[in-house]
Amino acid sequence: MLSRNTNSLIDLVSLEKEKFNTLFSFADQISLNKLATQKGFGKTGALLFFEASTRTRMSFETASARLGIYPLLLDVKSGTSLEKGETLEDTVLNVAAMNPSYLVIRCGDDLNLSEMAKKVSMPILNAGWGKKGHPTQALLDAYTIRKHLGTCEGQRLLIVGDVRHSRVAASHFELAKKLGYEVAVCGPVDFLPEKTSLKVFSNLHEGLQWATVAMALRVQLERHAMKYSLTDYREQFGFTSKNLESLSDNALIMHPGPINQGTELDSDVLQDPRCQVLNQVSNGVLIRQAILYSVLEGEL
Ligand code: NCD
Repeated sequence: MLSRNTNSLIDLVSLEKEKFNTLFSFADQISLNKLATQKGFGKTGALLFFEASTRTRMSFETASARLGIYPLLLDVKSGTSLEKGETLEDTVLNVAAMNPSYLVIRCGDDLNLSEMAKKVSMPILNAGWGKKGHPTQALLDAYTIRKHLGTCEGQRLLIVGDVRHSRVAASHFELAKKLGYEVAVCGPVDFLPEKTSLKVFSNLHEGLQWATVAMALRVQLERHAMKYSLTDYREQFGFTSKNLESLSDNALIMHPGPINQGTELDSDVLQDPRCQVLNQVSNGVLIRQAILYSVLEGEL
């Protein structure tokens, strides 16, 4: 579906298999202070967020700063010339004309990142594109799995909830093929892809018994009308302590955030020793540092 422009990261399909190991190894070395990453002095990196974000935006800001790159943030909420009628594409082209080392972009389906990557001279890094994908989130999840379970290969990832609207799930479908883990989905019928070749669990307990990693997704209330109550959702598909008794002691609990606590995941589950939610965030900075480092080296 998507194409890869040199050094851009728009999707995970076109990234060569060995690149994943390189990125993970860079992230490992960065965490051990074994990689001299302060290469960005005097450079800028543009972060264009046309949709809301907390973790991804701050993670890219932190990663840029740690590489010595000055992050220039354009946050649509703080007022931009889009309000004056400028198009999204023109906004991107104008920022590109300021010659940052890269453009990190979060946007809806109204901008085509693959096409934009052909129109600018610097790499574009997808920070969440409509429902199409969120490659750096899937990468940081996979890095977290590898760190805690030793390898991604052979793992069984159960994605629970709003899969149909999730770009995180979409990127995992791509990454699973590259890294050799299996993905199954679980949730109410309206939340699951209309057509899928994936394993589907309609019962959470059966899914949790199968999984080595269980990932809850945010119920995206803004994207569809709920046909039943959130209390019923919590009971049937929520990550509550009771429901998670079906998950093995060695398995991992994940969520990309932001969490609707008490709907898809209860607050006490955040204290569960299997829960990786904040580790995912910390690993996200490492993975984004590894990606930006590769961009500066010209070898993403
Ligand atoms: C996700 C996103 O925005 O795609 N969050 C994230 O980046 N960590 C998931 C969501 O919005 O539910």
